[in-house]
Amino acid sequence: MKYIFYTYLALVLVSCSNNKNSSSPRWEQAARGVWKVSVGDPDKVNLLSELNIVPNLDAIAEIRESPLPFGREEVEIEVVDNRTFLRFPLEESEKIFGLGLNFKTVEQRDRILRLHVDHYGGRDDGRTHAPVPFFVSSRGYGVLINAARYIDVWVGTGVRKDSEHPPVARDRNSDLDWTAKPYSDNLEILIPAGGAEVIVFSGPTMLDVVRRFNLYNGGGCLPPKWGLGFWHRVPTLYTDKEIEEEVKEFEEKGFPLSVIGLEPDWMTAAYPCTYEWDPGRFPEPAAFQQTMKERNIRTNLWINPYISPQGELYDKIEPYTSSHTVWCGLVPDYTMPQAQDLLKQHFRKHQLDIGVSGYKMDENDGYDFWLWPDVATFPSHTPAEQIRQIYGSLMQKITTEMYEEENIRTYGLVRAGNAGTSSFPFVLYNDYYNHRDFITALINSSFIGVFWTPEVRASHTSEEWLRRMQTVCFSPLAMLNAWADGTKPWSFPDVAEQVNEVARLRMSLIPYLYSSFADYAFKGIPPVRAMNLEEGYRADVVLKEVSFDATANPYAMALKQEVKDQFMVGEYLLVAPLFEGEKERQVILPQGKWYDFYTGECVGEGEVITASPGLSKIPVYVKDGAVIPLYPETAKLDGTKYPLEIRHYGEKPGTYSLYDDDGESYNYRKGEYMRIPLEVSVDASGKKEGKVETSDIERSWSFSDYRFVFY
Ligand code: GAL
Repeated sequence: MKYIFYTYLALVLVSCSNNKNSSSPRWEQAARGVWKVSVGDPDKVNLLSELNIVPNLDAIAEIRESPLPFGREEVEIEVVDNRTFLRFPLEESEKIFGLGLNFKTVEQRDRILRLHVDHYGGRDDGRTHAPVPFFVSSRGYGVLINAARYIDVWVGTGVRKDSEHPPVARDRNSDLDWTAKPYSDNLEILIPAGGAEVIVFSGPTMLDVVRRFNLYNGGGCLPPKWGLGFWHRVPTLYTDKEIEEEVKEFEEKGFPLSVIGLEPDWMTAAYPCTYEWDPGRFPEPAAFQQTMKERNIRTNLWINPYISPQGELYDKIEPYTSSHTVWCGLVPDYTMPQAQDLLKQHFRKHQLDIGVSGYKMDENDGYDFWLWPDVATFPSHTPAEQIRQIYGSLMQKITTEMYEEENIRTYGLVRAGNAGTSSFPFVLYNDYYNHRDFITALINSSFIGVFWTPEVRASHTSEEWLRRMQTVCFSPLAMLNAWADGTKPWSFPDVAEQVNEVARLRMSLIPYLYSSFADYAFKGIPPVRAMNLEEGYRADVVLKEVSFDATANPYAMALKQEVKDQFMVGEYLLVAPLFEGEKERQVILPQGKWYDFYTGECVGEGEVITASPGLSKIPVYVKDGAVIPLYPETAKLDGTKYPLEIRHYGEKPGTYSLYDDDGESYNYRKGEYMRIPLEVSVDASGKKEGKVETSDIERSWSFSDYRFVFY
């Protein structure tokens, strides 16, 4: 008996000294090809728990099945001292993508990150607007760490004593093969909590992984059709009359315009905010909205989260706010339904009810001084760290829901997000302004279920201005944000015509873009995507068996490098922006033949080409067999039905599933939408023939007629 007691005591002491939670990970299937793995005692509030997400299980079930590329026992999870450690195996040639909205790197192997919501500070260290703790592996699986915590990730940097593939210790003085970063065969994660939930997604391809991830988060958002037009934000002190003048100028000059964005001074007070119209600049907000509506212009309003004592919301929301203020304004605890409801009521009364179409939600990301500190307390008792990690997500959820309750779609901007926001119609932006890095962020956004806009603000030269305009027109939100500089699309007269041309091209692409966004909503396929997610472009083809040779095998050579400056838009378009100072650039074409979008000329197949299209064009290439539906470039998105130009490129026959609905409401969720099959056949002699059911076109919301154009 005595012996048993001492043995028991010894065991208790050993386990206490390690403070190790020995419970083994619990695996539970959450959907086809999706598993929830939990260990210890996970936080009540996590990245997804507050967002009311309904996974789209039916759409997930349609993705082909594939086992995980490793055994469960190869994933190590343990809880020690109130911290959770995770370890995933890494193969030598494996690549890791995702892990937040990075601006300088696409591949994350060899990196150390602390994923922390913040304004991007110029370094890919994990502090960013959407530090989504989700990674996708080139082995065909992905993992979401579902914890609203500052999460540390070592992506193939730590070398363990018990490694299965231990690198050899070398002497730096005498061995030329010595390396400062010896090979590591694991990806390690630290979550500062006594347990965690991890969600594992299978492939087989990386695109399948990303699709499962997006669909598990409710699917992608489908913006209203007007959201895909051209956006322009006016300087902050503009009045209603000045805005009307600016809108008129767009009309007179023949520049497309769908949305006008108002900056902080539409309100009686900002930083902190009242969310109430300034009577001096906007004496009759409802009449102003009406004028904009008559001109077919939507309005989008800047806000930040902090509540001003000058406004009527202050006293009502005060009981549901943090111990700390920001800019002396209240910080609502938006995990609480009371705070959510008060915000909705206020927004309805002052904006939604008079026709405002959405928000730009600023300053919910950080900069540390402009946020609450982690010692702040919140009335729901949710720790400040957790609130910080999900604040942007919560604001997206509240405003989306408010519009959904009225059966109206919104589209807006936000400076912070995280996992679980793919179904919310918001696009991330920031104050950083590097054109190249903006494109890298665009590519990275596609791995982690968020949108990003490389917005245009100002430029030093007309060349840079045009290059920036060209890329923003191929992004989820084509916007000029002139809040500080008062720039207009025509601000650089020598390139004004080319800017107009690309803005009009954007308008003509809307049927194609809208269908691509529908594929995001229904199938989880990101409309703007990294090349690594493209079939025929294989990230794992760091062809071990091929020896690299810049002349004989340039494709393999290119794949060895990280691709940060070209991307896919929709099913068929490859976009390769040029940057200021460049006359030409290299473009990696995936397998199969590719054609110039503008001329239809074949440019190559599975190879690296040099593009030199001149200043007026952004290089765009089209996959063989592509079918691309276009509006006339003068289309206005005002409910008019327009004739379609249906282009076909290349030699292969092709099909396209053209999507259409009313463009504004959520009725598509009740089945009120159409998929119109477009088809082009090519016979043995190369003769092409196009087919569409005319009755489909007649029944559609957006198209009056069609004609085929064969390139
Ligand atoms: C910044 C934001 C800018 C602009 C500005 C207005 O925080 O990133 O786009 O809206 O606020 O004060």
